[in-house]
Amino acid sequence: MKVGFLQFQPIFGQVENNLEKILKMIEKASDFDLLVLPELANSGYVFSKKEELEKTSEVLPTGLFTGKLAEIAQSRNVAIVCGICEKSGDNFFNSSILLGPTGFVGKYQKIHLFDREKLFFKPGNGPLKSFEVKGVKIGMLICFDWIFPEATRILALEGIDILAHSANLVLPYSQTAMLARSIENRIFTITSNRIGTEKNKGVELTFTGQSQITSPKMEILASAGTDTEEIKIVEIDIELARNKWLNERNHVLMDRRSEFYSKLIE
Ligand code: ACM
Repeated sequence: MKVGFLQFQPIFGQVENNLEKILKMIEKASDFDLLVLPELANSGYVFSKKEELEKTSEVLPTGLFTGKLAEIAQSRNVAIVCGICEKSGDNFFNSSILLGPTGFVGKYQKIHLFDREKLFFKPGNGPLKSFEVKGVKIGMLICFDWIFPEATRILALEGIDILAHSANLVLPYSQTAMLARSIENRIFTITSNRIGTEKNKGVELTFTGQSQITSPKMEILASAGTDTEEIKIVEIDIELARNKWLNERNHVLMDRRSEFYSKLIE
């Protein structure tokens, strides 16, 4: 199976240009089965007022990004995950969509909002679940969700092989932390981060790039630069994520002692 990330710089507020850039990059890419795109790939990130979300968001699953990416997934018989500024009723969600050969497969709404996201988005309703495309089980998380290992663990318990992690990272920690998420759950992770600096009404953020793919053996299979737009695709053996044995006697899920973990759900 061939999996990859697309790292680029969305331009704030320019939904159609962002889509065009993504489509051009995908057109030039070599073959893949799953491609993961960054968080909020349609809208950009540094919002200052609700009107900006109003202009750049889309209703799922009928919006522009969803429709076009679904078309590609269908015509190329592949899966695509993409971060989307979603409008639902009167609310906005920082969401991720999964498209496959049958079109729209499902969505995930970010449950752990980061910093000023809390001013504009409603905390999501998940779900933390596994979606199946062509026999592969994919879970979605978005950016800051990485710092809550419980979220990845639940997805691992739901049986995911691959964690599709769409991101707009500004802190320097996640790429290293994803190696831990990989080994502790024996899964592949694909972090697709954005690059560039965004400035809006006195708020300025620089995104850290360095998208990466990690393996159930805690290897970095591919990584990107800090400021380059690029697609990287690697071949993986999905069976590795289905073997949860670290050695003859240790299984990362069956060896858990949940009777000692009750504080986790208080
Ligand atoms: C983030 O969660 N976008 C930092």
